[in-house]
Amino acid sequence: MKITVAPSILAGDHSALANAMDRVIKSGARWLHIDIMDGHFVPNLTFGPQTVRALARHKRDLFFDVHLMLMHPEYFIEAFAEAGADLISIHIESRSPIEKTLLAIKQMGKKVGIAINPETAVEAIFPYVDRIDLALIMGVHPGFCGQRFLESSLEKIEVLRRYNREIKIEIDGGMNREYARRCGRLGADVVVTGAAFFEAEDPLELVRGIENE
Ligand code: DX5
Ligand code: ZN
Repeated sequence: MKITVAPSILAGDHSALANAMDRVIKSGARWLHIDIMDGHFVPNLTFGPQTVRALARHKRDLFFDVHLMLMHPEYFIEAFAEAGADLISIHIESRSPIEKTLLAIKQMGKKVGIAINPETAVEAIFPYVDRIDLALIMGVHPGFCGQRFLESSLEKIEVLRRYNREIKIEIDGGMNREYARRCGRLGADVVVTGAAFFEAEDPLELVRGIENE
C-alpha cells in the first residue's frame, strides 16, 4: 500500500509558516503533521489552537494530523478540533482519562489516535485498537526535530501490524528515506518527516520517492 508522508510544520520556519505550508502543498504531500507541546509532557513549547486556526486558512486539501504532546490533552480537544484538526492523537503516557478523551475527540467528529513514547511497549495500544483510527509510534523521544531514529521502534510496527491489520500506523521522528522504506515494509501507513522534509533540496522528489517505495 502507498505510504503517506506527513511533513512536520515544527521543522519549518516559524516566522513564515504560510510559506512552510506552501512548500508542503507543492510537494504533493497529503497530510500535515502539527506538533503541540506544553513544556510539561515534553521539554519544549510549540503552537496553540490559534496557530492551527491560522494554518487552516492555507489548508486546501491537506489533512491536519495534530499530535498533542500535552500532560492534559483533555482540556484542549474542543479548541484544536474547532481550529481545524482532522485527526487528533493523544499520548497514552499523558495524565488524561484516556477513554473519555478518545470519546471527546470522536464526538467532535474527528479521527482519533493514540501515541506511544519510545519507552512504552506497543502492547499498551492493544486494548484500544478497536476504538482508534491510528496508532502513532514515536521514533525519537518527543520534544524536538532532527533527532536520530531509534531502531527499537521498527519492531513495534511489526508487532502491532501482526496484532491488527486494519489500524493505521504512523511513525514519527528521525525519519529519512531509508527508514521510511523499512517502516513501510513492516506495515506502517504514515511517516512524519520534519528535518528531512524541510532540509530537502527537492521536497517533491522526497515525497514521491517515499510514496512510491
Ligand atoms: C518530535 C515530534 C516530531 C518531529 C519530527 O517530538 O513529535 O513530529 O517534528 O521531526 P523529525 O522528522 O525532524 O524528527
Ligand atoms: Zn509529532
